[in-house]
Amino acid sequence: MSDPQPKDDQQDPQTDGGVPEEALRTDAVGARVARVEGPLKVRGRAAYAYEVPVEAPLYAHLVQSTVARGRVRTVDADEALRSDDVVSVLDHTNVPTLADGDAELAVLQSDAVAFRGQVVAVVVARTPEAAREGARLVRVGYDMQEHRAELRADDPELYAPEKVNPAFETDTTVGSVETALESAAVVLDETYTTPYEHNNPMEPHAVTACWHDDAAPGEPRLTLDASTQSVHAVATALSGLLELEPEQVHVRSPFVGGGFGSKGMPHAHDVAATLAARANPGRPVRLALTRQQMFALAGYRTATIQRVRLAAQADGTLLGIDHQVVEQTSALKEFAEQTAIATRHMYAAPDRATSHRLAALDVAVPSWMRAPGEMPGMAALEMAMDELAERTGVDPVELRVRNEPQVDPESGLPFGHRRLVQCLRVGAARFGWADRDPRPGRRREGDWLVGTGVAASTYPFYVQGGNTARVEVTQGPRYRVSIGAADIGTGATTVLGQIAADALGVPVGLVDVHLGDSSLPPASVAGGSSGTSSWGRAVVGAARALREHHGDDAPVGAKVEHSPDDNPNLETHSLHSFGAQFVELGVNVWTGEPRVRRMLGVFSVGRVVNPTTARSQLIGGMVMGLGGGLLEESVRDARFGHVVTQDLASYHVAAHADVPAIEAVWLDEHDSLANPMGARGIGEIGIVGTAAAVANAAWHATGSRVRDLPVTLDRLL
Ligand code: MOS
Repeated sequence: MSDPQPKDDQQDPQTDGGVPEEALRTDAVGARVARVEGPLKVRGRAAYAYEVPVEAPLYAHLVQSTVARGRVRTVDADEALRSDDVVSVLDHTNVPTLADGDAELAVLQSDAVAFRGQVVAVVVARTPEAAREGARLVRVGYDMQEHRAELRADDPELYAPEKVNPAFETDTTVGSVETALESAAVVLDETYTTPYEHNNPMEPHAVTACWHDDAAPGEPRLTLDASTQSVHAVATALSGLLELEPEQVHVRSPFVGGGFGSKGMPHAHDVAATLAARANPGRPVRLALTRQQMFALAGYRTATIQRVRLAAQADGTLLGIDHQVVEQTSALKEFAEQTAIATRHMYAAPDRATSHRLAALDVAVPSWMRAPGEMPGMAALEMAMDELAERTGVDPVELRVRNEPQVDPESGLPFGHRRLVQCLRVGAARFGWADRDPRPGRRREGDWLVGTGVAASTYPFYVQGGNTARVEVTQGPRYRVSIGAADIGTGATTVLGQIAADALGVPVGLVDVHLGDSSLPPASVAGGSSGTSSWGRAVVGAARALREHHGDDAPVGAKVEHSPDDNPNLETHSLHSFGAQFVELGVNVWTGEPRVRRMLGVFSVGRVVNPTTARSQLIGGMVMGLGGGLLEESVRDARFGHVVTQDLASYHVAAHADVPAIEAVWLDEHDSLANPMGARGIGEIGIVGTAAAVANAAWHATGSRVRDLPVTLDRLL
């Protein structure tokens, strides 16, 4: 079982810190502070979006299209409306027109069906059971049209999007990969595939909405208790659709049961609940997606088909890297996953190319899922690097060290704090890599073939703009920090309190953090592993401003706000986090079943503000990466356009029994280029590279090279 005494914050003497004078380094930052809201959660006192106490709520249930493309011809609600408990049935003929905007949010705005599972009606009832039963009784007639739902590398309708998310070049070319391939001693040309994956946070997407027809000027017309990673993004989107001022939509989400990106932007259910509330003014309406509905309405990770070509000298030195991605978006709304971007800065090679091509299919809209882009992209690149190690006879750790670039290979910018080599070296020593026989299929323990694998991790350092923090002195004195950020279970509330305490020079117990409310100062999304950096800079700025204006004894009532400027270091440096993933895996010789035996991740993520919550993020990412390596796979039936693995019985996520021993450690560092905290991001890097390390270990155990994730027993044998 896992290490009962986590050594995750052990300082490694091989690494340096480089802490500037003005850096935050007092007792609060770096301390193992337990989640401040933890007691509320474990006692069931934290009210989530569906549970907020309201008077006499109504309940909404969604009716989803059963065809992949076409038009709704009829919606027959007679039978549903026969129930005394059903209040109304909304469809495209009886809802108000919304302003134009995001096509995913144009709920019930026309009779067009763009994917199977789309919302075609909403049943509102006095009980959740009546709403669900009512939804079953609504009969929808369709005019069906032909649809396309299969991702194929040879699809003649593939296209190059203008940019890939969030604003990266679609294609890049440096030198000539073709020339490199012609002159290389070793050439690798393989295709790797990654499956559709669906975000499955424990708390389904849920909302309690209330419409106030009689709202006074300056009061909200719509209040939403929504499970979201960004209250301000929801308020902005819905106020736009409703043609209200942003402050007329009040969104709250103090507690969120996970999101993994799927709650980073509003989805159709937020609009459906809003329409239901508007049809019943003054009555709160609760709506929760079922687990099954989440497989069509909450976003997901696109499948990918990735061709990787590597040209190398006999000693493994790379001459050329080519990474061509084919992936999928929805015909309803473009979502262009940035799958090949990590390849642009991972390894030195003079000749390079990356590209993305999309198939616009008649399917549900993809969205963010933990490390969108880096997770599937690094899976392919790092499986390819393992194959190159095999073909050149160079140790996989050494191969990566040998191809370490001096500057960012495509932008030419210097890296800030690139410590991939240290992560690999520290990890190899800790994991016991030196004893490894490089030949596959040589180690047998009882009924198990055992192998080990390694892969590199990386994640960009993102800082979001548009943040303001407020710090005010309250009775005590205590210090109230307000920012409309989101704590999706990561510990953000706690960590922002630590950052504020340090900047204020007060004990962490005197700080009260208020977040998850759109009436608080604006904040960026809890996404892109950017929360601590982006919100923390604003909090530090506000705390410093308070001390500047009022000295160290600011009076009760003193209050300041601060909105930080852009970080100029992002223009002059290539800032990324790095890591190394090591996996030991056994494959049962009789059944072919692969089981991870132990995992180690070593990360370079800047200063770790809270070792307890950071460890949870890193091992959480690694567990999800293990799922990506062995378990998670959404199966789409292209004939009908929907995902058939619509529950946790058929869509397998890693559980405790799948994770026997897992360790996450990090280098001791302070990224002086990043922010006053010295911290980069930790939410996503743990998932990057893990699936490749798993697949590479499966090859080493068996000699069988699986290039299609997940590595299931049928693929392995
Ligand atoms: Mo993360 S997928 O950026 O919430």
